[in-house]
Amino acid sequence: MKNLHFLLAALCVLPGAIAIAQPKTAVQKADSVLRLMTLEEKIGQLHQLSSDFATGPITPDGDKQVQVRRGEIGSMLNLMGAARTRQLQTLAMQSRLKIPLLFGQDIIHGFRTTFPIPLAEAASWDLQAIEQTARIAAIEASAAGIHWIFAPMVDIGRDPRWGRVMEGAGEDPFLGSKIAVARVKGLQGKGFGNTDAVLACLKHFAAYGAAVGGRDYNSVDMSERMLWETYLPPFKAAIEAGAATVMNSFNDLNGIPATANALLQQDILKGKWKFSGFVVSDWGSVSEQTIHGYAKDTMQAAMQAILAGNDMDMEGYAYHKHLATLVKMGAVPMARVDDAVRRILIKKFELGLFEDPYKFSNEQREKEQYDNPLHKQIAREMATKSIVLLKNDTVQSRPILPLQRHQKIALIGPLVKSQKDNLGFWSFDFDDDSVRLVSLYKGMQNKLGSSTSMLYAKGCNLNDTDTSGFAEAMAVAMQADVVVMQVGEARDMTGEAKSKSNIQLPGMQEALIKAIHRTGKPMVVLISAGRPLIFNWTADYVPAIMYTWWLGMEAGNAMADVLFGDYNPSGKLPMSFPRTEGQIPIYYNYYNTGRPAQNDDQRFYVSAYIDLPNSPKFPFGYGLSYARFAYGEMQLSKQQLKGNEILQVTVAVTNKSNVAGEEVAQLYIRDLVGSVVRPVKELKHFRKIMLQPGETKELKFVVSTNDLSFYNSQLQYTWEAGEFDIMIGGNSRDVQTKRIYWNK
Ligand code: GLC
Repeated sequence: MKNLHFLLAALCVLPGAIAIAQPKTAVQKADSVLRLMTLEEKIGQLHQLSSDFATGPITPDGDKQVQVRRGEIGSMLNLMGAARTRQLQTLAMQSRLKIPLLFGQDIIHGFRTTFPIPLAEAASWDLQAIEQTARIAAIEASAAGIHWIFAPMVDIGRDPRWGRVMEGAGEDPFLGSKIAVARVKGLQGKGFGNTDAVLACLKHFAAYGAAVGGRDYNSVDMSERMLWETYLPPFKAAIEAGAATVMNSFNDLNGIPATANALLQQDILKGKWKFSGFVVSDWGSVSEQTIHGYAKDTMQAAMQAILAGNDMDMEGYAYHKHLATLVKMGAVPMARVDDAVRRILIKKFELGLFEDPYKFSNEQREKEQYDNPLHKQIAREMATKSIVLLKNDTVQSRPILPLQRHQKIALIGPLVKSQKDNLGFWSFDFDDDSVRLVSLYKGMQNKLGSSTSMLYAKGCNLNDTDTSGFAEAMAVAMQADVVVMQVGEARDMTGEAKSKSNIQLPGMQEALIKAIHRTGKPMVVLISAGRPLIFNWTADYVPAIMYTWWLGMEAGNAMADVLFGDYNPSGKLPMSFPRTEGQIPIYYNYYNTGRPAQNDDQRFYVSAYIDLPNSPKFPFGYGLSYARFAYGEMQLSKQQLKGNEILQVTVAVTNKSNVAGEEVAQLYIRDLVGSVVRPVKELKHFRKIMLQPGETKELKFVVSTNDLSFYNSQLQYTWEAGEFDIMIGGNSRDVQTKRIYWNK
């Protein structure tokens, strides 16, 4: 107890303490503790280890419990639960200075309540809903002892061969920035100190999504201008929104591993952006510099990482083993170690862990948050909003969808009865999942009543060459009025270390679709996957298609809600869908080039493939509704503008159908001529609106010079006078355009 008094006195929190200036801020408190710490204790704060399970290649380690008791570990990941975290925290309280542990966890799309994967949520374009699911994730995770969530992943994803596109918000910097901010706000809530507010962690810093060939962990090589224009904006926006921590990335950027990249961590993040939180490495990425060939040993790796601005070493032991020597030999200034430790201690003080190390380890609160029916309902709503309707042709004089309750339905496909595959990667298993998770089959039973006879056939497996189930599936289809198929990916086919060179529908699934198509029955195909897949035949021949991503624990109920029109689909694609892998990377905001193809038929002496149309199979921002929306002619407040004037863009959107529905009106801008070439269009505003049947809403967008701004060749963020096209529409392809002139 002597030590505790000593520490508390140092913090001037001991009742009746001698009248010393009361440190009021977390910074002052952190400095008070820092002054008491030995070098070894400081290094302990920079050392993070995984506990109960691994999310990366395990490094051989000593007895973690002993290390915690000695104050040699400052943070742990991959352990959860009020009791379990309390147990480890109790050990930390046996250390000399009783500095509390920080518990971090990958809660990427929900904890006990599994929401749609982040890429699916991005398809909702509903920022409030996205913030709400992050808020719920924070409430549930903090009730299970977690202080720090390794989310949001804000990597721009233009390459669907890269399995981690599922964790992000797609290809666009503007949409990605808005969603990053929404997720940070959701996670951090009303501010640290509240027991349901957790530290957010922006990852992976930076440009990880541009890995060559879409191959995970691969090199990234790009101009600094491209980095600023496309990959940094979501990080910058989320830092400005107060994100507490940043995780760097496995990739090397222009030859320097991100973990040891001073340009990224010192110059940009902590310098230009004045980031006051702390940076954690990715799993073992400090030591992996030796494998990159950027350090001859882990001592050099430790030195390079900390000097470049990496504060905490996740699962690497490099700091643990070498920092003390590096400081003693003068290779690493103590000031840099102190800066890293201070950044971490400040967050522990802000979370209130010094006052009460066990405040997040409350078993009563954990029980209260364990099965919150409201959370489940919100998961279902989020899932319905994430579904993208890609096709809904008219067959036998009516659109296939929505289904009608009197129809005899055949459910066919390898995912129809699957529960876990709808959860997607980065999801948690619970013992009662068999009763909690709603498959499509279960969702349809819930919708129609379990007495309703529904026909079913699996048809084929997810990923083999067996077609022996086709005959039965076709026979089942023949007995139905309409066939609903659910195909796609198993839960582990997309995610970290799941890059694929072939992103066609796996196995014999498209062959099964063709077989069912041959029966001539009206059919709907639901595609559940973690990434854009290629399904050209299905897209061309199947009359109704929905992209259902991985929708989480309420997937089946949500799919049934949309299939029967109890929710009118409103999702819009956050990524372009390629026709072939050969088209990748493919994105909507490309540069025009000197020889653009004017249409999909032009081939010669233009920038096009001679064997494939240039356009994506489905464009960014695309999604249909059961309603039909008509856009009036957009009106501009001016055609000639000057300086800091603003442009008002007005457009009337009308629901021409007899069903209510939501539309995402999108506003794009093109800078016709710049001091560097500019994209043919860039998303700058969007509005998601509900329209009743026959209703018209007049939307007003305000365009300012900030919307015209970009990073010029000197990396200055500026705008240039000239001609601009303003474009508005329900996706990035089908837009109306008007030209304006904006002078300085
Ligand atoms: C993984 C991932 C990262 C995750 C971390 C901890 O390798 O790259 O996103 O947060 O390790 O699990």
